[in-house]
Amino acid sequence: MSLQLNDEAPDFTAQTTEGEINFHEWLGDSWGVLFSHPADYTPVCTTELGATARLKDEFARRNVKVAALSVDEVDSHKGWIQDINETQNTQVEFPIIADPDRKIADLYGMIHPNASGNLTVRSLFVIGPDKKIKLMIVYPASTGRNFQEILRVIDSLQLTANYSVATPADWKEGEDVVISGSIKDEEIPAKFPKGHRIVKPYLRMTPQPNK
Ligand code: BEZ
Repeated sequence: MSLQLNDEAPDFTAQTTEGEINFHEWLGDSWGVLFSHPADYTPVCTTELGATARLKDEFARRNVKVAALSVDEVDSHKGWIQDINETQNTQVEFPIIADPDRKIADLYGMIHPNASGNLTVRSLFVIGPDKKIKLMIVYPASTGRNFQEILRVIDSLQLTANYSVATPADWKEGEDVVISGSIKDEEIPAKFPKGHRIVKPYLRMTPQPNK
């Protein structure tokens, strides 16, 4: 059966551009992003890994470790990193995992044979400090991902892990959030002292509590 939200992220040991890693040990207490790309030395993938590298400080600020993966070998990844650094105005400083036997791709369901033959599609998993999968997205090879959206979702995941709130459509850090349905109206003032609005009995808004 394929992975689902809140399943444990499968553990593995693999060769990477930064040496051998055991995934769970490498994650430690951090959040993680594990994302696959179809192949090294391809144009959209080059821009995606460049975009991720440029967001190094944004991931670090959120205590998120990032690892990329494809079915290519470590030597291929290492050569390609030179091109990414040269063309994308950045330095790749996160591991790119080599998965030539597709062991990890199979564990995570990253190969969709009807879409992309033997290559990984653009899968992305956000993993919490409890090693559980918090987000899964899958894009086709022809569409590069929006890594600002990944940061936005991580902001939501980290906020909602700590407060009884949810984030509305198109929410961004600093905007009002939705009070969880499990909170009774009479509990709101104590839990959300910054104020609240009852738009409908099921739609109650409050300023972002940790801002
Ligand atoms: C790309 O990264 O541009 C790409 C990779 C595989 C298939 C199609 C596009």
